[in-house]
Amino acid sequence: MSRGLILAIESSCDETAAAVVERGRHTLSSVVASQIATHARYGGVVPELASREHLRAVVPVVRAALGQAGIGLADLDAIAVTSGPGLAGALLVGITYAKALAFAAGLPLIAINHLEGHIHAVLLNEREAMRAAELGTPVTDSDDEAALALVVSGGHTHLYLARPTDGAWHYSLVGRTLDDAAGEAYDKVAKLLGLGYPGGPWIDALALHGNPHAVPFAFSQIKTKLHLAGKAPRTKAAKTAPIADLDPHFLFSFSGIKTAVLRYVELHNLRPEAESRREALFTGPEAPERPTIDDALATCDPQTLDLIASFQHAVVGDLMKKTFAAAEALDARRVLVTGGVAANRELRSRFTVEGAARGVPISFPTLALSTDNAAMIAAAAWPRFVEGEFAGQDLSADPSLALGG
Ligand code: KG4
Ligand code: ZN
Repeated sequence: MSRGLILAIESSCDETAAAVVERGRHTLSSVVASQIATHARYGGVVPELASREHLRAVVPVVRAALGQAGIGLADLDAIAVTSGPGLAGALLVGITYAKALAFAAGLPLIAINHLEGHIHAVLLNEREAMRAAELGTPVTDSDDEAALALVVSGGHTHLYLARPTDGAWHYSLVGRTLDDAAGEAYDKVAKLLGLGYPGGPWIDALALHGNPHAVPFAFSQIKTKLHLAGKAPRTKAAKTAPIADLDPHFLFSFSGIKTAVLRYVELHNLRPEAESRREALFTGPEAPERPTIDDALATCDPQTLDLIASFQHAVVGDLMKKTFAAAEALDARRVLVTGGVAANRELRSRFTVEGAARGVPISFPTLALSTDNAAMIAAAAWPRFVEGEFAGQDLSADPSLALGG
């Protein structure tokens, strides 16, 4: 009998990842090769460098995933790969290799949307926990699990209603950002404050040392912005779905807060300090090989720490307000928060407190599954494998692939 083993490959952005997962509920291996060191000196992901690094890493990463799982190609039942959204050249590396492996081994190929993968990161954790508690897991997901999912990362800030019907998941888009993703705002604010890339983890750690109420950043209510409908989207994030049909209460906009932080920095003359911090910690001749949070903390004055804490408090508050409002309006049974920004400590604690107060169960992936990985892609592929939903050898990258209707 087949073991239900799926090898997944993920290469949509700056992580080359491969994993082997059994029946969407038991991770045998999950290998992630990060390119952070390559892109850090440019303060963001450089697409051409990402493709080159994926080309270098994909074969050893897949080999390591099979090796750690203790299996060979012949033991697999299918190969899954992220087909979008993401960087075209980066996606193509994973897709091309997955196609070659599937062809050589005579295995079916399964195309997975990266955002669906992030949602399945949470479901995979839950199934693993049930398995560990020896509760067993149902073969298919039960139909009463309708969840409101916030996917919040460097490329996305999207709200979906996710519903399993006879084990197959269906998604409807409920809200999303009109411009920058929340993670992008974290990264841009970190950059302008002279902190490292990616900025989220730096801001997360430094915010603990500032006063979150020092600077009252506000998110104005987004008007319908119907003037945007039908026009070319302004950003990568905005390309993945139309906005005209969405409730404006569930739309996000994070480019304004980035500009507000910049204005505050200029008004209070914090720029020279930020520049000397970047020099000292990240680029200068005396820069440590791996700057620590304590190194960064030592270069921040109280005003900067207050600014960082206030920025984070405002972003998390806005994410929380709209996510819970959508969950309530759509009668979702529970809330899932996933994607790189879901690793954030303040976000986790405030969502947890709010969920408890409202009686809405809330789930996050483990930290390792919050950021990009391939185990989540293999988990999302399982229901498609069961349904026999396979991709052809003509599968190509779709950089702006949307999820749900
Ligand atoms: O999901 P992910 O690895 O890649 C994308 O699909 O974008 O998310 C990366 C994003 C980056 O913007 C990074 O700054 C942010 O997640 N991030 C965080 C934290 N860890 C990563 N943001 C806030 N707090 C964190 N602890
Ligand atoms: Zn991601």
